[in-house]
Amino acid sequence: MTDAAGATPPVATEAGAAAPAAERGPGEAHRHHVHAAVGETKVHVQGLNFWYGDFNALTDITVDIKSRAVTAFIGPSGCGKSTFLRCMNRMNDLIPGTRVEGTMLLDGADIYGPGVDPVDLRRRVGMIFQQPNPFPQSIYDNVAYGPRLQGLKRKADLDAIVEESLRRANLWKEVKDILGRGGLTLSGGQQQRLCIARVLAVQPEVLLMDEPCSAIDPTSVQKIEDLMAEIKDEVTIVIVTHNMQQAARVSDFTAFFLQEVAGEPAVLVEYGRTSEIFTSPSDKRTEDYITGRFG
Ligand SMILES: Nc1ncnc2c1ncn2[C@@H]1O[C@H](COP(=O)(O)OP(=O)(O)OP(=O)(O)O)[C@@H](O)[C@H]1O
Ligand SMILES: [Mg+2]
Repeated sequence: MTDAAGATPPVATEAGAAAPAAERGPGEAHRHHVHAAVGETKVHVQGLNFWYGDFNALTDITVDIKSRAVTAFIGPSGCGKSTFLRCMNRMNDLIPGTRVEGTMLLDGADIYGPGVDPVDLRRRVGMIFQQPNPFPQSIYDNVAYGPRLQGLKRKADLDAIVEESLRRANLWKEVKDILGRGGLTLSGGQQQRLCIARVLAVQPEVLLMDEPCSAIDPTSVQKIEDLMAEIKDEVTIVIVTHNMQQAARVSDFTAFFLQEVAGEPAVLVEYGRTSEIFTSPSDKRTEDYITGRFG
């Protein structure tokens, strides 16, 4: 099961769209803060509660997402994994009647602070969804979209960023001779990598991936797992997956969410190094889930 909001995100949030060129040049957003180093905390979450109207979907979540590593979010359907991801780039703001309480800091600065521009936040914290959603434009224009919004105009600069982003997304070889073709003419797995290239083109610091591989072919899954390993030195990755083998393969850290009773809020049962969670979980519920006894 997936959520409708995840499948059809508003366009403005998707490519890491930024403020108009007149307001700032490319890279300016990077000047205002210090990026966390490897192993440091990138996103600090303390006592986070989230409500959809009266429904308390997440309760008292405390977790530190480590910088430049892959963190997997696992747990049964409906336990709030997508909700939590959307808290991290404030996409839940777009859903009427929602409310967040508690602390969520990106590089030490409050994600929900008064001076935060959600559009700039979404460039820094990019998102990939279960269903690939390229714009109805050429492959080239999909990737150039964000950099253009940031004010990049010179063709040579755009060409370079499009190529580099497509290379990092493990798609360049397949599309280098058809850059003018529509993004929607690609296969599903290629479209997903195109969406990854589109996000990477605006140099996100965090990449949120909500079940990015559950609707695509195995070859593309392999390519996406490979690219995650290649970019994680630079980008902090959080991936939601229902595939335990995938979580074990790609992640350094794992967080297990659980809603024990329908209608009751979900909690973060256990969080730690993936090697430990998968070999010696400290909570029986985690063990039951990863060994397939429920969920
Ligand atoms: N827009 C919304 N309005 C009201 N309730 C919502 C909304 N989106 C999600 N919920 C509820 O919040 C809870 C958590 O949903 P969420 O989509 O975050 O779970 P999930 O762990 O991502 O599930 P899945 O693995 O099926 O994707 C569920 O009970 C869901 O019904
Ligand atoms: Mg979900």
